Amino acid sequence: MAREPIYAAIDIGTSKVFSIVARLGPEGELKPLGTGTAPAVGVRQGTIDDLGDVKESVRDSLNECLRYMGRNPVSDFFAVVNGDHLISENSCELLGQENEQLTVTEQHLRSLIGGSSGILQQQVDSRSEQVLHIIPMRYRLDDMSGVRNPTGLHTNELQLEAHVVRGKSVPLGNMVRALQTSKLRVEGLVSHALASGEGVLTADEREMGVIVIDIGAGTINIACYRDGTPFFSSVVPMGGNQLTRDMAIALRAPFQMAEEMKIEYGHVLPEDIPATDEIILPATQVHPKRVVSRREICEPLYLRSLQMLKLIQEELLRAEITSPMGGGVVLTGGASRMPGFAEMTARGLRTQVRIGAPLWYAGLPESLRQPEYAAALGVLQWAVKHRNQPDRGRVRGDGDRNWSPGSLLRRPFARSGARQGAGE
Ligand SMILES: Nc1ncnc2c1ncn2[C@@H]1O[C@H](COP(=O)(O)OP(=O)(O)OP(=O)(O)O)[C@@H](O)[C@H]1O
Ligand SMILES: [Mg+2]
Repeated sequence: MAREPIYAAIDIGTSKVFSIVARLGPEGELKPLGTGTAPAVGVRQGTIDDLGDVKESVRDSLNECLRYMGRNPVSDFFAVVNGDHLISENSCELLGQENEQLTVTEQHLRSLIGGSSGILQQQVDSRSEQVLHIIPMRYRLDDMSGVRNPTGLHTNELQLEAHVVRGKSVPLGNMVRALQTSKLRVEGLVSHALASGEGVLTADEREMGVIVIDIGAGTINIACYRDGTPFFSSVVPMGGNQLTRDMAIALRAPFQMAEEMKIEYGHVLPEDIPATDEIILPATQVHPKRVVSRREICEPLYLRSLQMLKLIQEELLRAEITSPMGGGVVLTGGASRMPGFAEMTARGLRTQVRIGAPLWYAGLPESLRQPEYAAALGVLQWAVKHRNQPDRGRVRGDGDRNWSPGSLLRRPFARSGARQGAGE
């Protein structure tokens, strides 16, 4: 019997490094074999700023994961990549013309994505930027536009409209290095926004149009979907840590104490807190035990959340979203659990809002069905769909010397597409 394939994912977040290894069962279901979580050190607003510290966090997370598994280590990982250096745009590439008719095959589409990546990579300064994803949105076959699956159709020209994500070479390279120095092989890098979308959205929501907003410790990742595919994604460098810092100032308390108080008593709509609610603050090195009004100390959380919402609104305007989408908003990421934030978002964006936890597979323990695991579990699903595909998320410097998007360029059109399709 063929062995069931193994998939592994790692999310080096601002607050935690989470790793997971899972086996793909015969019904397409992923069964977790091991997971590990360690506090992240050396990550600021989603990007690595201290390789040595990160390496230790990765090691702790992997050790825990492998202890669970009690078997041979897995070395090929898909990883989440984050940070406001990631930018997205939609590109329209007419990649080939033939006098002879082309019968579009799967192989053509794969090559088209690879070739498109080569063209786009040539358009940016490759020392400073790299193309991370090219997600096909639609195709145009001669005069017929809006085609979602052109396989088997005839055409002279094939145009790809795609959602493209690019990132700065330095932070992408640092992510690859952090994994390689931890003896991991990078199978693919997946942008946090798209990973979270993959983790928490239903197929219906993606069809109807939906916005997924992942609020982590240091970043807000936004991805917008329509007709089943993403058409906008972006990263805002702000997150739950900012709320903790505000709380720390309001309480005049250390960050860690403020974090605990935020999680225990935080609320972004102070008007919903009874005016008489009080909190007893433990003594610190500089303050004795104190009693404070819960409503008062939540006031800065309200103001900061309003600012976050305003920044999200600006991103949605950039995405040209001016009215609610059918699937509304799905909030995820650890900070989406902050009481009142979903309600505030629903009011502010005038749309329905749900808090999204990872959706997939029945065997997932309750402890992992939490919004902070959306990206890592989304990456595993991404891995199942994209393993060995040219759009799986590769960057230069990750050790795959055979993968050269430029080499695929024009291949489907250099010869007759129909003949090539038949022969491959
Ligand atoms: N119950 C809760 N209420 C409010 N905030 C919470 C709660 N649980 C977690 N958080 C916040 O969620 C944040 C961590 O979320 P998450 O694990 O998704 O971040 P991350 O992936 O490490 O960061 P990033 O994606 O920005 O790199 C922290 O700021 C934490 O305080
Ligand atoms: Mg995150």
